[in-house]
Amino acid sequence: MHIDILTCLPKLIESPFSDSILKRAQAKGLVTVNIIDLRQYATNKHRTTDDYAFGGGAGMVMMIEPIDNCLTELKSKRTYDDIIYMSPDGQRLSQPLANELSLKKNLILLCGHYKGVDERVREHLITREISIGDYVLSGGELAAAVVADAVVRLIPGVLSDETSALSDSFQDNLIAPPVYTRPAEYKGWKVPDVLLSGHQARIEEWRHDQALERTQKRRPELLQKP
Ligand code: ADE
Repeated sequence: MHIDILTCLPKLIESPFSDSILKRAQAKGLVTVNIIDLRQYATNKHRTTDDYAFGGGAGMVMMIEPIDNCLTELKSKRTYDDIIYMSPDGQRLSQPLANELSLKKNLILLCGHYKGVDERVREHLITREISIGDYVLSGGELAAAVVADAVVRLIPGVLSDETSALSDSFQDNLIAPPVYTRPAEYKGWKVPDVLLSGHQARIEEWRHDQALERTQKRRPELLQKP
């Protein structure tokens, strides 16, 4: 998979890709993540990528030209499955959406900033919009990092235990069961006996019961989903 992330604040998004699972996925050659500074595509003297809104009002608007110039160059090298604008107005990120995106080959994530992008970018240059939740961030960078993380960890080979992404919360509309590690007893707080029993079938049954019970208690609406 190849992901291009377009931003006017590249520093805001570099660190999630230089550590842990996202770093390892790149080192293994399973994904390439390219963070692109939109200012490189600015056409004016000061390399600005934003301007005042027509009609007035507070807040700057990201200009179409640097974004279009950048997308034109990228599209001349690759065919993209989706050009995604990170926006609180977009389709809400969910596990099924992350699963769907993890099957794509080439993605662009465009990060908005300030008041957002010139509407013509949304009308003519992107293919979809994704939101990470009903709240407004100061830019799309953190949202793009969330999307990239949720997607990249699903690519086969990225997680060392191949099955672990499948047993995540939400993959089966259930919250994950509790997990424990050593010591088996700490300050009198004990790990459930069944997990120490070595009886794999009973352990799986216990985990499933716990997942169901937790989901019923915390997120009952998940159990109504098809
Ligand atoms: N940009 C600002 N807020 C956002 C959100 N909630 N999701 C995605 N992108 C955003």
